[in-house]
Amino acid sequence: MMVNDSSFNSQAGDETGRSIPTHIAIIMDGNGRWAQARGLSRTEGHRAGVRALRRVVQACGELGVRYLTVYAFSTENWRRPVSEVSALMRLFVEAMESYLPELVERNVRIRYIGDLTRLTRPAQLAMQKAVAETAGNTGLTLTVALNYGGRAEIARAFRRLFDDLESGKITLAEVDDNTVSNYLDTAGIPDPDLVIRPAGEKRLSNFLLWQVAYSEFWFTDKYWPDFDRDDIAAAIADFGRRQRRFGGLGEE
Ligand code: IPE
Ligand code: IPE
Ligand code: MG
Repeated sequence: MMVNDSSFNSQAGDETGRSIPTHIAIIMDGNGRWAQARGLSRTEGHRAGVRALRRVVQACGELGVRYLTVYAFSTENWRRPVSEVSALMRLFVEAMESYLPELVERNVRIRYIGDLTRLTRPAQLAMQKAVAETAGNTGLTLTVALNYGGRAEIARAFRRLFDDLESGKITLAEVDDNTVSNYLDTAGIPDPDLVIRPAGEKRLSNFLLWQVAYSEFWFTDKYWPDFDRDDIAAAIADFGRRQRRFGGLGEE
């Protein structure tokens, strides 16, 4: 089990003294509405969403963000028409394959969270290949949430924790909030400092429920496919003006 001191305070300062979030998490929403507004298919919207992700990965790497976590497919997205789900599965494979060389070149390390076992075999293989080929990279850690739901993740953690309790690997008295963090899919990744949701909705939609305990939130009405470097820079600048108190009085 990886050791993860999920200390609530992980942001670093850049050379200008502003604080850059160590970990940004994004709910990539609005692909469908973006496409609809242009008379395009929803699949075209998802394709444009992948292009936005490429821009944002590059910007985050250049701005000194260490961890970027993106919500790509939720445990609830299976409720969509089979045709859209199938198109998304194909797009994950295609995007991973075509984008992998660029990720390797940018020194990005890929991880995923969620239950991959329900994804198509090609999608599972593409993800495993991307993880293996980028495992040694030392730049931005890009975590892709696929068939991810915060509640399902917590239930998975319970099962593994109970297993370890039963086998005596850990004792009940040892279990604290750090232990729980270490049983989640995100073990080893610091909690998000900043959560961004484009496309106007102001809800979590089952994303990182445990991990966002003290995250800052930033919303925009812009659809995800239109998101670019300036939006990331605006979100980071706004984050830099927030006073995070973590329950204290916020004195230096
Ligand atoms: C987000 O865009 C992508 C996924 C959920 C896979 P949407 O497909 O939810 O786009 P809207 O919300 O319908 O515009
Ligand atoms: C959240 O977006 C999930 C992803 C971005 C992958 P949704 O479009 O599924 O969320 P709701 O249904 O509007 O809450
Ligand atoms: Mg949506």
